Amino acid sequence: MRAVVYERYGPPEVLRVEDVPGPVAAEDELLVRVRATTVNRTDCGWRSAKPFVVRYFIGVLRPRRSVLGMEFAGEVEAVGPAVGEFDVGDLVFGVTGFGAHAELVSIRESAAVAHKPAGMTFEEAAAVCDGACIALSCLPEPDRLRGRRLLVYGASGSVGTAAVQLARHFGAHVTAVCNTKNVELVRSLGADEVVDYLREDFTKNGQTYDVVFDAVGKHSFRRCRRSLARGGMFIETDPGFMWHVLPLAVLTRWIGDKRVKLGMARYTKRDVLLLKELIEAGQYRAVIDRRYPLEDVVEATAYVETQQKTGNVVLTVNGGSTR
Ligand SMILES: NC(=O)c1ccc[n+]([C@@H]2O[C@H](COP(=O)([O-])OP(=O)(O)OC[C@H]3O[C@@H](n4cnc5c(N)ncnc54)[C@H](OP(=O)(O)O)[C@@H]3O)[C@@H](O)[C@H]2O)c1
Repeated sequence: MRAVVYERYGPPEVLRVEDVPGPVAAEDELLVRVRATTVNRTDCGWRSAKPFVVRYFIGVLRPRRSVLGMEFAGEVEAVGPAVGEFDVGDLVFGVTGFGAHAELVSIRESAAVAHKPAGMTFEEAAAVCDGACIALSCLPEPDRLRGRRLLVYGASGSVGTAAVQLARHFGAHVTAVCNTKNVELVRSLGADEVVDYLREDFTKNGQTYDVVFDAVGKHSFRRCRRSLARGGMFIETDPGFMWHVLPLAVLTRWIGDKRVKLGMARYTKRDVLLLKELIEAGQYRAVIDRRYPLEDVVEATAYVETQQKTGNVVLTVNGGSTR
């Protein structure tokens, strides 16, 4: 199969498209012919080995897994004998750890994979799961969001666009913070209020929030703690310089009346099924910034690394197809 491979850590140029042996479906796995995938910030972290600590998970000197790619949408090509939920020919979408930047990817039936939402193209479906699963892992439980005031900082990124839509769905009053060029987009996603950070600093407007969610790892508890209501929570997606968010999260459990939480991504079938349901009910959509063919993965990755994408960047595979 054709796949994007890398054998050493480095800039986007370490990626190249090659013919490699394809995966096979194990006993409890499905083999998916990928029609679309994405380049996300985690793919970039694995490729560049930044921060350095990621090497302890994926290979100290060189990457142990040579094909990146987490999100996918495509068609089931084969199923293992123990698979009951999917059949050959089913259209699916989901998220895995590695391997989706390829024509074929295998995934366990019990993992974060489900039938593709009706009426959604492969490209749209590929761009759903990563940002939304991160947002679902980081945000408070739905019953702790209903009626609460939530501010999403970085509301136009992959995680941010998901957080705005999901928090609104769970009944929060959502204030979205973004650049002027993205104001209309985040409003269209359901934000109750939008703060254009080029014109207004939300930390100085006198408003307070029950939750401030930094969806892009660019704010800090120190800068926004006065914008938190009593008992409020600052949720960070990035461990920050020297991983300082972790000790802060521990300290604020004991000191003060405002808490810090470091959200960690969890990818579950339960969340993918929830997303399918919301999409089919017209309550969630994937935001796509740019699309590239798989062969242009270096260009796509360089764009993602500008940290200025709006929503998601899609790679089309096997000719894409919009079915
Ligand atoms: N915790 C976890 O388990 C986990 C897992 C994966 C990723 N992450 C983290 O999640 C974060 C978000 O990922 P993502 O894919 O959503 O990011 P992204 O899509 O690359 O975010 C791009 C958006 O960020 C906004 N932005 C960039 N610089 C900004 C700044 N200085 N101030 C305000 N907004 C800024 C831009 O919006 P405007 O154009 O509107 O400024 C742009 O639309 C990253 O920090 C990533 O490391 C965490």
